[in-house]
Amino acid sequence: MKEISLTGIKPTGDLHIGNYFGAIKPALELAKTYDARYFIADYHALNTMKDPAELNTTIRQVAAGWLAAGLDPEQVIFYRQSSVPEVFELTTMLMAFTAKGLMNRAHAYKAMVQDNTEKGNDPDAGVNMGLFTYPILMAADIILFDSDIVPVGKDQVQHIEMAADIAQSVNANYGKPVLKIPRAGVQDDSAIVPGLDGRKMSKSYNNTIPLFVPEKTLRKTIMRVVTNSQGVEEPKDPDSSQIFLLYKLFASAEEQAALASRYRAGGMGWGEAKEELFRAANRELTPMRERYDAIMADIPALDKILAQGAEKARPIAAATVTRFRKAAGVQ
Ligand code: TRP
Repeated sequence: MKEISLTGIKPTGDLHIGNYFGAIKPALELAKTYDARYFIADYHALNTMKDPAELNTTIRQVAAGWLAAGLDPEQVIFYRQSSVPEVFELTTMLMAFTAKGLMNRAHAYKAMVQDNTEKGNDPDAGVNMGLFTYPILMAADIILFDSDIVPVGKDQVQHIEMAADIAQSVNANYGKPVLKIPRAGVQDDSAIVPGLDGRKMSKSYNNTIPLFVPEKTLRKTIMRVVTNSQGVEEPKDPDSSQIFLLYKLFASAEEQAALASRYRAGGMGWGEAKEELFRAANRELTPMRERYDAIMADIPALDKILAQGAEKARPIAAATVTRFRKAAGVQ
């Protein structure tokens, strides 16, 4: 039997190529060898997003983005977290096995407390219980589907370790393997995509290249990649060039070698290097953009795909909850 890979996708609008190369592509690659279950974490998003129209749109955009990038809903169970209510029952049960101190140590919560303290605010200002217990809901997401491996970025590793801890407490208490113990599949650093300014590409730095913008906007954005002041004639070092690092993501080995030697030879200005980057990026992104636009033009069909995913997910979820209920003596 194949191992099970599961990941939660936070609904954030405007997916960018950092998301694509750092998270989406590796997760889709895993879906080839694992039994994959991927979901839109809409209840996690509710902790911070209180505008219904915005949340609704972002959920659709992110779902369409993953489908456009190649997620095959026949092969992967793809659903909305909120369509599988068993996750909330499991969350409640897991709470009984989660020390409050463990939540106090969660990085995201600690960072907020520290920030509040530095500003002289109440330590818990702006912290709702959803944020505080976020790692328990996340543990339930994972444990509910008997996940073996959870592909995540480094910032999420602590959450997976907490999920494993909580599942272990349950198993230790009942003296049998009621719940599967998950492990993190950490995406390595080479997957970190540089942004327009050379820092890690991130929405919070406002340095992203969006995935699904029209060709013209893509070109304009690429022209904004920061370069040094070397003139056209000067030989240039490809390995320290943001443009080249980005180019590598889209180009074949031969194309990379060819552009590298043009860099070293001199006579090629940054403008031309950017054109090369735009051509390579646009070649890969055009079919994805077309699929994305088609999916977003038919929301009922998109919702149906997610509903069908939830139908496949619920019996698996119900089986885990029943197993736990029986072990716990609550039915
Ligand atoms: N916390 C994850 C993030 O911020 C999203 C997430 C929610 C998740 N539930 C999950 C990831 C379960 C993996 C498994 O990106």
